[in-house]
Formats: sequence, C-alpha cells, structure tokens
Amino acid sequence: MRLKPIIMTAACMSAMAAASAQEISVDLSKKGHDVDESLYGVFFEEINHSGDGGLYAELVRNRNFEEHVLPSGMTYKDGFAVAPHSLNYEHGGYRDWKVKWDTDSLKMDGWKVIGDAAYDVTDENSLDPATPNALRLEMKKAGVVLENEGYWGMRIIGKDRYDLRFYLNPQDFEGTVTAKVMSENGKELARQSFKVTKGDRWQEFTGVLTPKATDDKATLRLVFDKPGKVYVDYVSLFPQNTFKGRKNGLRPDVAQMIADLKPGFVRWPGGCIAEGATLENRAKWKETIGDPMQRHSEWILWNYHCTWGFGYHEFLQFCEDIGAAGMFVANVGLSCSVRNGDWTEDYEPFLQDIIDAIDYATAPVSNPWGAKRAAAGHPEPFNLKYVELGNEQVGDHYAQRYNYFYRILKEKYPDITFISTLQLSPSRDLLEKADMIDPHWYVNSGFFYENDHLFDNMERGKYGVYIGEYAVITEANMNAALSEAAFLTGVERNSDLVKMASYAPLFENNNRRDWPTNLIWINNEKVMGRASYYVQQMYAQNRPTYNVEITTSEPVRDYTSGLVGFLGRDVKDMVRDITVRDASGKVLASGVQPEALKTTELQGGRRWGGPVVTNLLENVALNGGSVEFDIRLIEKEMPASHFDTDRKPRKVLRSPSTIFGADPESKDYFVVNLPQIAGDRKVVTMNRATNGEANVDRNPGGGGLQMEKDKWYRVRVNLDRNNTVSVELDGDRIFEQIASAPSGHYTVAGYDEATGETIIKVVNSTDKPWQADLAIKAASVEPAGKVITLQSDDKKAENTMENPTLIVPQTTEFDGFGKNFKYTFAPNSFTVMRVKTTK
Ligand code: AHR
Repeated sequence: MRLKPIIMTAACMSAMAAASAQEISVDLSKKGHDVDESLYGVFFEEINHSGDGGLYAELVRNRNFEEHVLPSGMTYKDGFAVAPHSLNYEHGGYRDWKVKWDTDSLKMDGWKVIGDAAYDVTDENSLDPATPNALRLEMKKAGVVLENEGYWGMRIIGKDRYDLRFYLNPQDFEGTVTAKVMSENGKELARQSFKVTKGDRWQEFTGVLTPKATDDKATLRLVFDKPGKVYVDYVSLFPQNTFKGRKNGLRPDVAQMIADLKPGFVRWPGGCIAEGATLENRAKWKETIGDPMQRHSEWILWNYHCTWGFGYHEFLQFCEDIGAAGMFVANVGLSCSVRNGDWTEDYEPFLQDIIDAIDYATAPVSNPWGAKRAAAGHPEPFNLKYVELGNEQVGDHYAQRYNYFYRILKEKYPDITFISTLQLSPSRDLLEKADMIDPHWYVNSGFFYENDHLFDNMERGKYGVYIGEYAVITEANMNAALSEAAFLTGVERNSDLVKMASYAPLFENNNRRDWPTNLIWINNEKVMGRASYYVQQMYAQNRPTYNVEITTSEPVRDYTSGLVGFLGRDVKDMVRDITVRDASGKVLASGVQPEALKTTELQGGRRWGGPVVTNLLENVALNGGSVEFDIRLIEKEMPASHFDTDRKPRKVLRSPSTIFGADPESKDYFVVNLPQIAGDRKVVTMNRATNGEANVDRNPGGGGLQMEKDKWYRVRVNLDRNNTVSVELDGDRIFEQIASAPSGHYTVAGYDEATGETIIKVVNSTDKPWQADLAIKAASVEPAGKVITLQSDDKKAENTMENPTLIVPQTTEFDGFGKNFKYTFAPNSFTVMRVKTTK
C-alpha cells in the first residue's frame, strides 16, 4: 500500500486552523501489510550505568576490586590507556585511539577505609583468575571499617532480605567481621557477624541481612574487630526481591518498565561495546555466564568496568520472563571504527563463538553448550531468534566479511534471522544475502518529522529493515517524543519492509549520562519514563494485526520553487559554470561563476568550527526546473570529532552542498549533499532547514560514488514539479527523493483481529487543535471505545524525577465513534483510538 505524502505549508496550517475540518478516512476493506509481533523491541547496552547501577540488582559497586584494570588489549602511556597501533578497517590509517587513565584513582572506586590501616588493591593474592585483584588491608588497630557506597548510595528496603556474600583471605587476622547496612545518616539498619580464623586461604562468607528501615543512600560496611592483615575480594549485597524472584536478577521496578513496553525482542549486549574500542575489550559472552564471582569484569568503551552480572544467561532468561525473543549482537572480528577500528582476518574463532552462543541458547542438552545452559538451570531452549553480525559496521570490508559469516551460519541455523549492520549505504549492494539491515538514526526532531515517508518507496525484496537504534538526541522533551511518534507512523505503515525497531539507548542512571538522550531514567528510589517512553509504549501496546488504508485531505504544496545556491565556505574553489533552466527547459541563467553568488545568512550557528555560509543566486527564482554546475572535491582540514580523543584535526575532502527551494524570509530551504569523503562509497543525502535550523543530513539517497580529489564533475539537480528531486553526476542519475515538508499531522491505522478493533494513530505536532471529520469504512462501528492521548501544552516539557508523570498517556472512554464522526486532536498530541468495528 502506498499512501500519498501529506505535505502542507505553515501558511496552509494557520489557514486551516481557522477553516473547516479536514477529512481522515479509514478503509477497512483496503488491507495493508501484516504488523509482526517483533516490530517494537528494546535495545539494551551497558552505557550510562544502565546495567550495573541500573537494571542489574547488585548493590555493591566495584565488588571485585577490578575497576582500575586497564582495558584489555590496551597499554598505559603518559596518563592514557592506549590501543594498539593498528590500521582502522574502515577509514584506513592509524587512529592510535586512547582514553585518559588514572589507575590509582580507580582502585578504590566505590570503597573507603575508615580507621588506622594501610591498604592497596593488588594482584599479589588472587581469589580467582577472573578477579585477580583484591584489597590488601593491614589494620593497625581494632575497629577498621571497609565501606562501600554502592552506585551513588544503596537503595535498601526495610524488611526485605538481602543476600550477602564476600571472600576473605585472613592471613594473620583472627577475630570477628561484622557486616552492617548503614543508613545515610549513620544509623545501623542490619548486621551479621562472622568468626574468622587466621590462615593464608580464601574463605567464602555468606549471610542474609534484613534491614529494619528503608533508605535510599545506604552503605555496606565490613567492620574488623581486631588488627591484622587480610585480603578482601568479591563483596556482594544482593536483594532477594528481584524481577520474578530470579537469583542474580534484576531490579523489579526497572525490569517492569521494559515489560510494560511489551517488547517483541530484547537486544543484548549492545551497541558499540559488542565491538570494543579495540578488539580485545569487546563484549565476550562466554565471560558473562556462570558464577558471577568468576565472571571477568571488563572495561567497556563507555569508560567503566562492567561486571557482566546481567550476562548472556540472565538476558535470555529475562527475554523468557517477559515473553520477548532474544537478539544477540556478535563480534565478527572488527572493533569499533570510530574508536581504534582494528580487526583480524582470523574469522574462525569469532565464527565458533557465535555458533557456541546460538547453541548455548537453543541446542538440546546433548550439545555441550546446551548442557551448560541446563547446568545453569534451564534445560529447555531459550527463544533466541536474532543474531546481529557486528554493530554499526559499514563499508565494503564489512560487507564481504558478513557474506562469509552469513553463508555458514544461515546454513547451520536456517531459523535464525541474521542481521547485517549495513545501513542504507551503498555497500549493502555487496551483500550476497542478508535477512535484515540495520540503519540507525540519532538525529534532531526535524529529521523524524520529515521522514515519515522514508520507507514508502524503498526497494522491497532483498532484506527487511531493523531500525536498531533511533532517537532524537538534540532535545529530550515532548517535541522529541512527537517527532518519534510521527516517524513511527511510517515505520508501522511500511511493516512489510521494516520488521523491527528499537529506540536507543534504553536506560540511564541519572548520576551518569554517557549519551545525550536515554529513554528511561533511574535513580535509587525511582525509575521514570520520558515522554518518548510513552510513545514507545503506546505503539507497542496498540500494535495492530495488519494495516488498513488511511488517507487525509490535506493539500500538497510544491517545494521546488524558491532560490538556489550553495552551502559552504570556499565555494569559489569548488563550483563553476552554473546554468539554471525553468521547468520547460528555458535557460534562465547560464555560465554564472561563483563570484556572482550572494552570501546570505540563511542559517544561524556554526558548523565544522565556523559560521554557516550560504551563497544564493538571488535573481533566479525557480518553479521546478534544474540547476547545473561543475563541482570538485578539495582537501580541507576539519576539527577533530569528539571521538578523536587526541583532538587532532583531520584532513577530509569536501564539496559544497546545493541549496534549493530557499526562502530568505522564512529561512527554509532544502540541501542536497554530495559526498564529502572520496575514495569510499559514499551516499548522497538530502536534508531540510526550517527557520534556519538544519535537519541532520542523514536522509539517505542513492550513492556508490567514487569522486576523486581536484577533478571537475558536471552535476545536475532536477527539481520536478511533483516534488521529486534527482541528481545526475556526469550524466548518471545518482539520487532521487521526494522533497517534502512536515505538515505536523501524521496518521496510520490498522486492525486488531484479536479484539475486533480498528486502531487509529494520529500525531498532531502543531500547537493548534486539529479538527477532523473521520470516516471509517466498515460494516459496523460501535460508538463506545477508547481514546488514549499523550499530550502536553508545552513542547519543551518533559517528565522529571520530581514530576515523573507530567506527560503520560490518558485513557478515556469515548462514546462518539461512528462511520462518520468528528474529533479534535489536541495540540502537541499523540492519540490512539481503539474502535470496535466489524469489517
Ligand atoms: O546507543 C549508543 C551507541 O550509539 C551505541 O553503542 C552504538 O551502536 C551507537 O553508536
């Protein structure tokens, strides 16, 4: 089913507000695509202390005294942990990636020694190879206290039971160790004492603490009643009250937030951490199973150690507990290309690792990995349905590698969906076969408002699309949520192609933000969904069985009128011989040189370290037609991105972007970007600026360009009257896309076979009510039904820890449904209607 783009100008919109209602028509006889159960899922990665200090219920921070350990595969030099000097698989060249490192300050992370004692964290006496370091405590007097502050304090609930486990190697200490839970203001909430006899051997101590009162900033103390030398390692305080009562389980309130999203799948373990900053510190699932004490904690590239307590088995168990399928993200021998990007050609260990992971999850107990799963308490297979081969890896090198892994794995596991990380880039053409590709969008709201039709005309038949990560990252508020809701209308409508989507990242502990916007916020006391969370929830809880046609009567505006020009400094070195023709082919200007362009301030702000410069051909307004010119790429030095920890500028090849449809008054315009880096297969993109604010230029088009440095190319941008923009390079058509501007109104509809309801979803992102005459073409429509609305008068508003329910869905009974009925959609709202209908 293809729906006509709904395009409207700001002028139309204000006229509309005063004028008559628009029509929204839903036709149940026009069945669209099935909407798979998998469509809405969640993406989990250890980032922002989402797992340790978030979902994972452990209360002790740095429980194994390993936080200071250098990232595997990296070495210490001059205050930095430095990755190996290896070629970057994507960019070529050496990144020599490094991160600031201070071993001493990390050794006692989370810990404090109070009293007369000398201490150090050392590997001279190891409890287990997985936790080689331990605290050496040399107490000169009795009463020394070892205190752990947890993750910004420990949330302790009065009368709940907490499992305590710790290891001592008492050396010459002989006496009593008392474990105490202390409140923030120093009151003892629980205690248990353990007799210790001296000797050079590791001993395990376990107990159960039942604090008498609740406290959000409690601490755990081990108090030694005698002087002496002792080693301490693996100190754990774990609530018995976990999600579904699982041992080594999850914080119930946090896990419930995921369960309430009714996700079709859960992705684990990431994200970039699946890749590693360098290959050695990638996530290794085999180190995440078994006794948590014997799990090697590893530095992850969000710059802290992960205990891997929420490991592979716990992830699979959690999927089962909430009725979701599992998605495992595997490393294919490539590290993160925006970090070190080193790789290996030795595929076999990585392939075997994936085979073992799939077997652990799904093989019968007769298989050695199936037997390990059974030994961990789960003889039945888990529902692992998806394996992603790599994360965010692009380019030809990756595509070829994917082909190798896919061929072997698909033959062995035909029922598993293998996902390629290739985005909508031209390299995906090199895939022999992929079940799905995984584009990511971290963008501004403009991108989502404008790309509700992104998938409408996309090629079908080669692979499905899994939007593995997407979010507005420039703001966290109702506007971001509405734009995501708008984008999802297009996702749901195109459910034959887009099979799965997951917002990312999922969690942040409010004390630690590694990523600008995260769906769910956690502190010790509370867990809170942002407005975006409720958009996800409303989509997932109101997923229809299949789509039905929905149309609106909104007018379509032509966007090919306006001024043309170029964006960028140094245009004169990169553009020449500009010719402009009108829609009939008549030449309006010819042989124009860049000197004749007028510098105009269309866009505020700075880009690439300098002010944005727009150069317009002022006297040649277009109404359809074409712009032709010569263009070349020149080498420029660009400031380092935030990923370059050495902050060195980089040399890249750049060309100016072409502007059309520009209105200097409203500062609205479209931009077509030719690729800015030569030598690799790059895409052409198109984006739009509204009121001078540019959309993130990630709107993919055609590509596969291999433009060379300093060589002139003839480019022609055609602006067809039906809003189609196409680009030719030396006569070859390399890009085609519809230029549309958001109306502020978005719709999608479907039918839920289980309940016999038509589900209509409407986003009104304007600040005016949207009055609509709705028609439902069905055999019968019951007047009584439900309307669920997420709304805020203030688009900048967001839920906060103080006011976590400021923006939450309101469900109301509505008695006015019919074959024809009127409804006014509130300003800044996302509405879901559930209407009982017979077809
Ligand atoms: O979600 C945060 C990060 O964004 C993920 O780790 C990575 O895949 C993407 O770059």
